[in-house]
Amino acid sequence: MQSEDIGQVLEIERESFPTMWPPTAYKRELEQNRLAHYLVTVERNGESAGEWAAHGGGYGHGSDHYGAIGRLFGELRHILGNEDDERPLLPVKQRAELITGVIGVWLLADEAHIVTIAVRESHRRQGIAELLLIRAIELARASEQQLVTLECRVANAPALALYEKYGFEKVGLRPRYYSDNHEDAYVLSLSSVPSRRFIERFQVLKAEHEQRWGSFDVEG
Ligand SMILES: CC(C)(COP(=O)(O)OP(=O)(O)OC[C@H]1O[C@@H](n2cnc3c(N)ncnc32)[C@H](O)[C@@H]1OP(=O)(O)O)[C@@H](O)C(=O)NCCC(=O)NCCS
Repeated sequence: MQSEDIGQVLEIERESFPTMWPPTAYKRELEQNRLAHYLVTVERNGESAGEWAAHGGGYGHGSDHYGAIGRLFGELRHILGNEDDERPLLPVKQRAELITGVIGVWLLADEAHIVTIAVRESHRRQGIAELLLIRAIELARASEQQLVTLECRVANAPALALYEKYGFEKVGLRPRYYSDNHEDAYVLSLSSVPSRRFIERFQVLKAEHEQRWGSFDVEG
């Protein structure tokens, strides 16, 4: 993801979440947050393609406890969403291809925390979120993270099914976590990332995904 993609990513956010990050928050994430890595999928000639936008480069040394970290980053959406600066950001240049999905991952000392994942409504159920999650897990593995964590609304059945498919477990509950409807959040954790058992299962899931949806070009 690059700055020129912010407009399209906000379109996806708008149809995906009741509250949104303002454009300035994405800009800051891309340009200043050395822990943040954002990946978008783009459709090229009628086909989808994954494109990494690993930027920053530092992996940081934050907390090593999922509870504190989860709370901190989970609240980010609300904090940033309440900023006064809601002026539309007009990127100089827009990507020509259609962006179909986005994932944001913060790489901490030994934990990858997924801060956002969303797919364009018109492109759901085509394996795009799974592709994004596969890439995020690969990023976590490449940087030797022990855990991948995230928060998810308790009623978000599609997302929970995706995470469960990849072996995430419910390790906590944050009561009344979301400010729009006071819904609870599950804290989900994939704690076995480096284990041989997980790696073997992950390779099977990846191969099944490729067989079902085809291969994707990875850039960046
Ligand atoms: C959740 C979301 C990201 C899934 O995206 P997607 O590209 O449609 O998902 P995929 O096609 O890659 O599906 C992968 C797996 O997710 C699960 N899944 C996805 N959509 C589902 C649905 N509507 N019902 C049940 N399971 C679903 C399934 O396990 C699926 O595997 P399967 O095809 O073998 O059944 C998408 O619905 C979305 O953007 N929702 C709004 C934003 C959101 O809720 N983000 C998650 C925040 S925690």
